[in-house]
Amino acid sequence: MIGYQAENHLFTLHTRSSSYQFMVDPSGYLLHTYYGPRVGGGSFAYRLRQADRGFSPNPNSEGHTRTFSLDTQPQEYPSSGVGDFRIPVLEVENADGSRAADLRYQSHVIRSGKYALPGLPAFFAQEEDAQTLEITLEDPVTGLRAVLYYGVIESRDMITRAVRIENAGDKPVALTRVMSLCLDLHQGDLDLITFDGRHTGERHPHRRRLAPGIQMVSSTRGATSHQHNNFIMLCAPDAGETHGWCLGAALVYSGNFEAAVERTQFDTARMTLGISPWQFRFTLAPGETFTAPEAVMIFSREGFSGMTHQFHRAIRDNLCRGEWAHRRRPVLLNTWEAAYFDFNSEKLLEIARCAAETGVELLVMDDGWFGTRNDDRGGLGDWFVNEQKLPGGLAPLVHAVNELGLDFGLWIEPEMVSEDSRLFAEHPDWALRIPGRPATRGRSQLVLDFSRTEVWQYVYAQIKKVLSSANITYVKWDMNRSLTDVLSAALPAERQGEVYHRFVLGVYAMLEQFRKDFPHILLEGCCGGGGRFDCGMLYYTPQIWASDNTDAMDRLLIQYGTSFCYPVSVAGSHVSAVPNEQTGRVTGLDTRAAVAMAGTFGYELDPRSLSVAERQQMRLEIDRFRHLYDLIQYGDYDRLTDPFAPGPFTAWQQTAPDGSAALVTVVTGMARSNDAFATVYPRNLLPDALYSVNGADAVRGDVLMYGGIPLPHVGGDYRAMQFELTRKG
Ligand code: GLA
Repeated sequence: MIGYQAENHLFTLHTRSSSYQFMVDPSGYLLHTYYGPRVGGGSFAYRLRQADRGFSPNPNSEGHTRTFSLDTQPQEYPSSGVGDFRIPVLEVENADGSRAADLRYQSHVIRSGKYALPGLPAFFAQEEDAQTLEITLEDPVTGLRAVLYYGVIESRDMITRAVRIENAGDKPVALTRVMSLCLDLHQGDLDLITFDGRHTGERHPHRRRLAPGIQMVSSTRGATSHQHNNFIMLCAPDAGETHGWCLGAALVYSGNFEAAVERTQFDTARMTLGISPWQFRFTLAPGETFTAPEAVMIFSREGFSGMTHQFHRAIRDNLCRGEWAHRRRPVLLNTWEAAYFDFNSEKLLEIARCAAETGVELLVMDDGWFGTRNDDRGGLGDWFVNEQKLPGGLAPLVHAVNELGLDFGLWIEPEMVSEDSRLFAEHPDWALRIPGRPATRGRSQLVLDFSRTEVWQYVYAQIKKVLSSANITYVKWDMNRSLTDVLSAALPAERQGEVYHRFVLGVYAMLEQFRKDFPHILLEGCCGGGGRFDCGMLYYTPQIWASDNTDAMDRLLIQYGTSFCYPVSVAGSHVSAVPNEQTGRVTGLDTRAAVAMAGTFGYELDPRSLSVAERQQMRLEIDRFRHLYDLIQYGDYDRLTDPFAPGPFTAWQQTAPDGSAALVTVVTGMARSNDAFATVYPRNLLPDALYSVNGADAVRGDVLMYGGIPLPHVGGDYRAMQFELTRKG
């Protein structure tokens, strides 16, 4: 609910359990007053305090009053170049070379329903569950306008933000920094949590106390990156999983980003989130507009798990679209680690036959089926079937696989081109390259200039033809290198700072076209695993391959970090062969299955190499996953331990929203001789209800939560246990 009090120009945005408030001051500045637990009403304007602070200048409109400074006031969308020295939110270069913008309130509208953004992903909601506030700010000198969008998705505790910049003046203006979100909190003694890592080790959480100055994570790779996720958290220093307040903020975008928090001289904090300003420069001719992507926030006073539950619901119900958003996802077998580039129809059929016996529902043919793609040096861009490997094209193979009772899916990497390809020979200027400078290679490939509509449309037309040639029900959309040599042959020199963003818009446009033309195809995103794992992609692909690392023990760390924001239903996770390809570690098939069940669940191995007993076990595990499907995919997810902290095991829990069932999964670390008794403590059960644990006599929920479940001594390293809790009364 969005409330507006005209007499004191106060806006209050209420979600189910949080409130967000700001006001327009007499000079037209938007001053932030509160973000925290929901309040029944009232004004927090009394929190805005003023003092004469040395070296904090005063707007001219204040006359000679020295106590009001943009440098010290908490603001919603601060101006730059006119007296606020904290981390900037909007930076412009005006036609006269000046770098100032002074945005003042003009008007606002409140409407029901949630705004959408043209060409950009955004959360959505039922008309009755959401409201939009649009505030127009204007610079009185240049005529530059910023339209701030606030969305409130009440049931999800979500506040969304986006900004449209309009050049309403009569001269061009260049935007050099446009953040989507600014949050000026009144306290600075906070912890920042970011989710960082590397290829095959994504989204490991890092928590630190804010120090004075700016702390920042960003990506300049053209995609969200393996190195830093565009979801971050701020929390009270004493906050944990079940207590203390925290807030999470995510950028609904898949390109370069910057997330920064500044602890200021007066111990307040400014958080900003948006497109990275690195190499960013977007020119607006008079009348032109630029829309910055959406950023979303969820506040919880009940610790991290409260925030996580709401993010998970919002991503599942208010971001993932299309028929697959809520449809039962198939248990798939992907051929990558089973065959790499070395396959043909016959081999795939043998794998399919074997997979069918174990209960797998979908065979995914990964990289290597097109052009001259026999290794990772060539073929990208040539999206036609390699008939030496697959005689007669896709149709006969897919038909035969379907006959075995399996659906069929395939891998694509549309944004890339190999120099050794027909596409590159015909259109060398379609790759991002700097004329006269040898192009930097990544995985031996170049990046196509998706900022050009004709480029992605050409690639799409080829892919569409292939997809239309057979019964394809799944596509894995990959992206296997970072962007370099970013120069578009189609744009003049002064517009090259737009290419990174226009590239992302091109990717989104193709994804949108894909979804329209193939609504029945399940799309899975991928970027060398989890290099583009973000809310932007999830608007188009309801699941994303979480990491190229399939080692069960490493996955515990990756999936733990991923779970803070992203639900199990979007995290691609597979059982692979041992010794593991990435780590060389050996873990049991049951352990690998238990870990993959904290994701979409599938296989990434050659079933022919398994023993009969292992295949039987695989069948049992697939059956078990099917039986637990709703609990796993739609249950409220709780992290029961922190796998980065020392301890004998890692555990997590999924609980049916009505408390009728729960699944507790435990994976032990390295065995120790004569070790202490271990106990896992479930959460989130109904205290008065009776639960049976794995079929044993029923016990009260509160007894289980406070007394815990004793873990049997199983012996050996990396052992998994699952406890199914079923309500009996
Ligand atoms: C990336 C993906 C893998 C696989 C290969 C194929 O690394 O993350 O899963 O598809 O590409 O080349």
